[in-house]
Amino acid sequence: MKLVIAATGASGSIYLQRLLEQIDCAAHQVHLVMSAHAEQVAAQELDKLKVPSGVARHSENDLQVPFVSGSARFDAMVILPCSMATIGRIASGSSDTALLRAADVFLKERRKLILVPRETPWSLIHARNIVTLLEAGAIVLPAIPSFYSRPKSLVDLVDTVVWRVLDQIGLPSARAYRWAQQSEQS
Ligand SMILES: Cc1cc2nc3c(=O)[nH]c(=O)nc-3n(C[C@H](O)[C@H](O)[C@H](O)COP(=O)(O)O)c2cc1C
Repeated sequence: MKLVIAATGASGSIYLQRLLEQIDCAAHQVHLVMSAHAEQVAAQELDKLKVPSGVARHSENDLQVPFVSGSARFDAMVILPCSMATIGRIASGSSDTALLRAADVFLKERRKLILVPRETPWSLIHARNIVTLLEAGAIVLPAIPSFYSRPKSLVDLVDTVVWRVLDQIGLPSARAYRWAQQSEQS
């Protein structure tokens, strides 16, 4: 698969770290773009973001990248975490950076765009922007963990969100907890 993974300045850099760790970056072509605020928040929340070898990292302002054109074929783009600021920019059609342009291209080409916002509570402006993006074809997958798998650690909890993202990309994790499947197997 050819994937764009982007991160913006919402809290939740650990979701990005766990996603990068669970994609086989040798088997798939993975491009990473982080906004300046994502870099700042990651520095606050993680000791250091570990980018697996094989991942192509790009500046958010570099438009000389393949995924800003509809002519280059890609399978999915994920923005995780996705700030409400970026949600608003995409909903308004802004495509000033490589990150925003890529999101704009994925929507216009009807390619899979998965947005993982983390904000609470929402204003009416947030809610309206989300509706606009749903209407335009985006998948909005809020960073809301689940508890029915009885996560034992922070990483286990984070993975309940990351597994949903991997499902949406089309790379389901063999480790993912799936409701009622465990009891079916035993
Ligand atoms: C420590 C920190 C945590 C933040 N957490 C969030 C958040 O959870 N959700 C959000 O939408 N914005 C959050 N923000 C605000 C965004 O970083 C800010 O709106 C920024 O302009 C986003 O820019 P970007 O989308 O280009 O990365 C946070 C900022 C800081 C400094």
